[in-house]
Amino acid sequence: MKDQRENEILVEDMAYILGKLSKEEKAKFNNSTVLITGCGGFLGYYFMHFFSRYADELNIKKIIALENFLTGTKDWLDDLVNKNDKISLHEFNVITDDIGDVEGADEADLIIHGASIASPTFYRIYPVETIDANITGLRRLLDFYKEREIKGLLFFSSSEIYGDPFPEFIPTDEEYRGNVHTMGPRACYDEAKRFGETICYIFHHKFNMPISIARPFNNYGPGMNIEDKRLPADFAKCVHEGRDLIMFSDGKPTRTFCYISDAITGYLKVLLHGKLEAFNIGIDKPEVSVKEFANLFVSNAKEVYGYEGKAQFQESDDDEYMTDNPNRRCPKISKAKATLGYEPSIYVEEGIGRFLKFLKINNGKLI
Ligand SMILES: NC(=O)c1ccc[n+]([C@@H]2O[C@H](COP(=O)([O-])OP(=O)(O)OC[C@H]3O[C@@H](n4cnc5c(N)ncnc54)[C@H](O)[C@@H]3O)[C@@H](O)[C@H]2O)c1
Repeated sequence: MKDQRENEILVEDMAYILGKLSKEEKAKFNNSTVLITGCGGFLGYYFMHFFSRYADELNIKKIIALENFLTGTKDWLDDLVNKNDKISLHEFNVITDDIGDVEGADEADLIIHGASIASPTFYRIYPVETIDANITGLRRLLDFYKEREIKGLLFFSSSEIYGDPFPEFIPTDEEYRGNVHTMGPRACYDEAKRFGETICYIFHHKFNMPISIARPFNNYGPGMNIEDKRLPADFAKCVHEGRDLIMFSDGKPTRTFCYISDAITGYLKVLLHGKLEAFNIGIDKPEVSVKEFANLFVSNAKEVYGYEGKAQFQESDDDEYMTDNPNRRCPKISKAKATLGYEPSIYVEEGIGRFLKFLKINNGKLI
């Protein structure tokens, strides 16, 4: 029976993701246990809803969900656990807790390591925890699984490993080696992701592990906690509260913004690829300035919320807000298209509308 509280945007997005997986990809879930770290975060929200919703259809055996709730949220996870007895949720710190103590973890076939702190505001508050989740947490997972039979392990890297690319390297492909500051306020994140990739490379070669790497480019959409302080979350919060949108830059940096259902489709494809390779996952057009992005929020919000606000500039009281912030970020995704059949199709205007509709239905909350 259909749950009364199901958000129609979420339901449509789940069906979209499933529809984008090939028969062969779906078959890899058959009789598999999936283990996911950082399940209470933004991407975790979509992964968990997807696995929960299609556990029976894909014949997933078990979903083991790990989270330390440093920035992740819980109520919606408790709801999912109550509805689906294939899910087991564990309060678990990937840095210090022992994965061997988690019931069923030794039987996991598909592992997603998403535990990290992805919001720049929060990783600057928790720089050591950010490094450790991406390096120590990853290392401990790899040590545990190196002698076990697994089908795939996905490490979440980031487009931040490219730093602030020189203009001739934009759009950026996977071969670009990056322009990253080792000692700036963002370095805890960027360099941890870079070294995380190196650890994956080493463990793949030494232990023949089926590790694959996703480099996400600016995702947004439902599942993003509006208190999370990333740009789309801030804009969504302002709309929801009926306040003007505030831009803390001059509005000129440009990005391509990838809607969550396209992004999750890409990550699942990378996970199921099961071979050492790094893929840019994002969308390659349109590249919009922060100001244009803000204006798209305003126009969509008028329609969805009857919003009457506007976009404004304001100086941030955080001196390091803009330090080492890339001026342009735009991926080449031809490798993921050709190798994985990844075809993102939700452009930013539509995606913002979906995000706002989701929030309006949920009254701004993750339920
Ligand atoms: N969303 C994006 O656009 C984007 C872009 C680049 C990279 N990524 C990467 O993708 C992954 C998921 O991103 P997200 O947007 O969902 O991030 P998020 O910050 O919303 O979620 C990460 C989750 O990990 C949890 N966590 C942190 N440290 C932990 C620890 N030691 N043990 C257990 N759990 C821990 C947090 O509580 C949080 O719920 C992260 O590795 C992130 O760096 C995301």
